[in-house]
Amino acid sequence: MKALILSGGKGTRLRPLTYTGAKQLVPVANKPILWYGIESIVKAGITDIGIIISPETGDEVKSKTGDGSLFGAKITYILQDQPAGLAHAVKIAQDFLGNSPFIMYLGDNLIEDSLKQFLDVFLSENLDSLILLKTVPNPSAFGVAKVAENGKILELIEKPKEPPSNLALVGVYFFTNIIHQAIDRIKPSPRGELEITDAIQYLITQQQNVQAKQLTGWWLDTGKKDDLLDANCIILDSYLLSENQGKINGKTKITGRVSIGKNSQLINCTLRGPIIIGENCHLEDCFIGAYTSIGNNVTLKDIDIDHSVILEGSTIVNINQRIVDSLIGQRAKISLAPKHPHALRFLIGDDSQIELM
Ligand code: G1P
Repeated sequence: MKALILSGGKGTRLRPLTYTGAKQLVPVANKPILWYGIESIVKAGITDIGIIISPETGDEVKSKTGDGSLFGAKITYILQDQPAGLAHAVKIAQDFLGNSPFIMYLGDNLIEDSLKQFLDVFLSENLDSLILLKTVPNPSAFGVAKVAENGKILELIEKPKEPPSNLALVGVYFFTNIIHQAIDRIKPSPRGELEITDAIQYLITQQQNVQAKQLTGWWLDTGKKDDLLDANCIILDSYLLSENQGKINGKTKITGRVSIGKNSQLINCTLRGPIIIGENCHLEDCFIGAYTSIGNNVTLKDIDIDHSVILEGSTIVNINQRIVDSLIGQRAKISLAPKHPHALRFLIGDDSQIELM
């Protein structure tokens, strides 16, 4: 059994962060989203992993993630030179996949359920494909399954305008090598991509043994800011352990679970966890509210922040309003100029969003 993780694409829904980096490397609770997928694949016992990368962000994915030794796995990188669809990614990975059955895992998806239980069903029932489904409020944004009362899948449709159900296709799929024949038969969709949904639909039409299981735990597709903030909450809620490797002065008050990285310093701060703070951070006279993740080398002074994700190297100083629901990119600087406290002065990247309240 092998695994194929898709970590290409342009990440348009997470701009401007994705102008400079891969969407799969945006951290959730200070760890790249992609790494959660790798870890759950390794936990299911699969260590031969291929990762699809794009020309734009591939080098960054490679240099951060490495050869797999961080995870006890062997990683092979496969370049997809254009975002031509999920099924196209499988096509170009054929040399790596050979005749092996495999899990295909979309690198921006996170699921709570363990992969092992689904892998066991896929193998023990000799399925040609096992797909995972989850009810969602907005099925038109996903691949959608029409399922009969006895649980049999009748039809799969990619991003239907009128969805036949609210069961979305989760970005984790199990296939035998028969999927390659299906991919050879399908044509690009209206959005110009070879859709994996169409390839699985082809298997269903050919009466191959395709089954679906519904997830019982959460599923997060982290492609947009609010999804990413939700993912941050759920991961901090589910997995964060209190740990302090930094320095905290006597006037700092901490309640709830808080993890503080090496060489970070907290002076006169109030923290209400769950909160994660990376290494080499300096926090002074701040209130940090629940569900906040702060990356390495961040400086915060005289601010009040809640339910936000701050990436590496940012500085936020002297803001006299609470910052909430925010995603702040690497090395960003936000400050209040003491001489002109009522004037706003910006240097903002393309596609940034600022809401003043
Ligand atoms: C892709 C699949 C879709 C699936 C979704 C899950 O959509 O095409 O069927 O429901 O991933 O994340 P995309 O992210 O390419 O819009």
